[in-house]
Amino acid sequence: MNKKINWEAASNIAIVKYWGKRAHQLPINPSLSFTLSTCKTKTSIDWEQRSELDHLAFEFFYDGQRKPRFEYKLKSFFSQLETLYPEFKSVYLNIDSINSFPHSAGIASSASSMAALSLCMMTIQNEIKGVVMPQEEFLNKASYLARLGSGSACRSVYPIAAAWGESLNLPGSSDEYAIPMADSIHEDFKSIQDYIFIVSRAEKKVSSSAGHQLMERHPYREARIQQAQDHFNKLVPVLKTGDWTGFSKICETEALSLHGLMMSSYPSYILLEPESIHIINEIKLFQQESKLPITFTIDAGPNIHLLFPQRIQEEVDSWIQQSLSKYWDEEQIIFDDLGIDSKPGV
Ligand code: PMV
Repeated sequence: MNKKINWEAASNIAIVKYWGKRAHQLPINPSLSFTLSTCKTKTSIDWEQRSELDHLAFEFFYDGQRKPRFEYKLKSFFSQLETLYPEFKSVYLNIDSINSFPHSAGIASSASSMAALSLCMMTIQNEIKGVVMPQEEFLNKASYLARLGSGSACRSVYPIAAAWGESLNLPGSSDEYAIPMADSIHEDFKSIQDYIFIVSRAEKKVSSSAGHQLMERHPYREARIQQAQDHFNKLVPVLKTGDWTGFSKICETEALSLHGLMMSSYPSYILLEPESIHIINEIKLFQQESKLPITFTIDAGPNIHLLFPQRIQEEVDSWIQQSLSKYWDEEQIIFDDLGIDSKPGV
């Protein structure tokens, strides 16, 4: 194989959630997320151009082990890429990917893995064409590609925070790709810690793709679109000014609305577990008693993300010791924060 590249990209946690899509993986509402730093994917690709190929050919390995199940999923992603960039048709890829978090931690890896893969594909595309793109354009194109693989992955291309979905209140926003938000975030929010309480390591009972589909005929669809737009419009200035009270209201309502939408879909389903509710109640109690700037959010699963600025880390750690250590050992928590740039490896 004559060329090798690799990229790292981190997972993200949405504050305003993308839930429901239109054709071509376009969202029904704008969303905004924080990009994490501990939960990430590293993807390495050995690649070459082979004149005998008339379609992109590839093999996929996870940490050195061939994974045909993932290859099946990636086929449709690559066929979309070939339509956009016909030069990929004569490319052979040997892909090896690894997550920094355990496969079975209940943390979705599609965002970080599709972002890392899309960054690799943009690098390959530029090498084939002999183009050196400005960084901004490169990331914009990688975000577009990542969206085709997994909607929320388009936000993982950017560090700290990113917004995806057209909003009249955010110039430059688009349904087709995410835009970086790091420059519009108050310093206090940039230091946010995300303690992820792993309630279950099992694979989700209902996938996010199935959940998005159930929004098509959801009785609350229109109200949800309105709510998400309203939250998005409020969140943008709240992040800029560092208003924790405003932030936690949006954050918690979004988290519980997402799960409310699942519970009121047809057919309905529940991803939260009794322990999820228990932790939420403990967080709310701590929040009310301490008046500290802490809040929580939840992804499409039972795990709870506790968010707070770094300046109160000591208080939060001692609360966990005192109130939660009876039920939780630290191995069930992933200590994450907002951080790194996606970066090419050596
Ligand atoms: O990108 P998908 O198809 O895995 O959907 C992600 C949906 C949520 O994680 C629940 C919300 C979001 O905006 O990330």
